[in-house]
Amino acid sequence: MSDAQTAQTKNTSTQQMATGDRAILPEGAKTIPIYVMGKKYEVPETLTIMKAMEFAGFKFLRGCGCRGGICGACPTVYRKEGDYKLHFGLACQTVVEPNMYLAQLPFYPANRASYKLDEIEPTAEAIFALYPELFRCVACNNCTKACPMGVEVLDYISALKQGDIAKAAKLSFDCIQCGLCASRCMGELPQYHIAQLARRIYGKYIQPGAEHLQKRVGQIEAGRYDEMLGNLTEMNKEELAKLYKEREREPDFAPLGTWMPKDTQYL
Ligand code: SF4
Ligand code: SF4
Ligand code: FES
Repeated sequence: MSDAQTAQTKNTSTQQMATGDRAILPEGAKTIPIYVMGKKYEVPETLTIMKAMEFAGFKFLRGCGCRGGICGACPTVYRKEGDYKLHFGLACQTVVEPNMYLAQLPFYPANRASYKLDEIEPTAEAIFALYPELFRCVACNNCTKACPMGVEVLDYISALKQGDIAKAAKLSFDCIQCGLCASRCMGELPQYHIAQLARRIYGKYIQPGAEHLQKRVGQIEAGRYDEMLGNLTEMNKEELAKLYKEREREPDFAPLGTWMPKDTQYL
């Protein structure tokens, strides 16, 4: 990320309207002041932090990925006026507030162990050996308070300390690897990397395999869909567009398990 408008202001204490190629104010939009890296900008009050920063002239080279709250690339730390607390959020999801004072944390240099999943023992001891810092946790719960996804970070760390890989994998399922938990940890734990290892072990060795998935993989390998895929690849753009438009669609809000397409030959 770089400030594309460093020439915009010489006096950081002077309030001014941001300009730049995204600085077209929606009609009737009210603007509010925010502070980015110590500099004040006026931005439309309806924008997310990410869009507000772009409005202010910043260009995201890093610290931005999906823009949809999934990739974890845009963790942001901020304070609000008159509030001593640190707040945490994703820049692509959190809407700006007046006098928000913010900085982005696009990467956190947390320890990440090296391992080969194929060679690892699916045991808690294997996780302890790779991440002995797990036992430095003092249960302060700062990690949970910092998580923008509402993940119970302390709970999954505690589950792992007790050797419960399945519980840790399930509790950490919504983690997007943003690193905010690690940034607040007085025990210097890389919680999200540890949980990712737990989920990998759980997914590969512990979770029961889905029978229907194995059956479908077998059908694919036996060539059940080869002809259909071959026909698709030979279609031109117009034919593909027609097929797509005329496809059968499950109705929105259909009760679970109540809908089946008329054409079931590929099910
Ligand atoms: S658990 Fe940590 S890395 Fe995962 S989403 Fe929450 S704060 Fe981010
Ligand atoms: S922030 Fe660190 S020390 Fe505190 S509860 Fe979370 S993992 Fe444990
Ligand atoms: S850009 Fe992916 S979570 Fe914000």
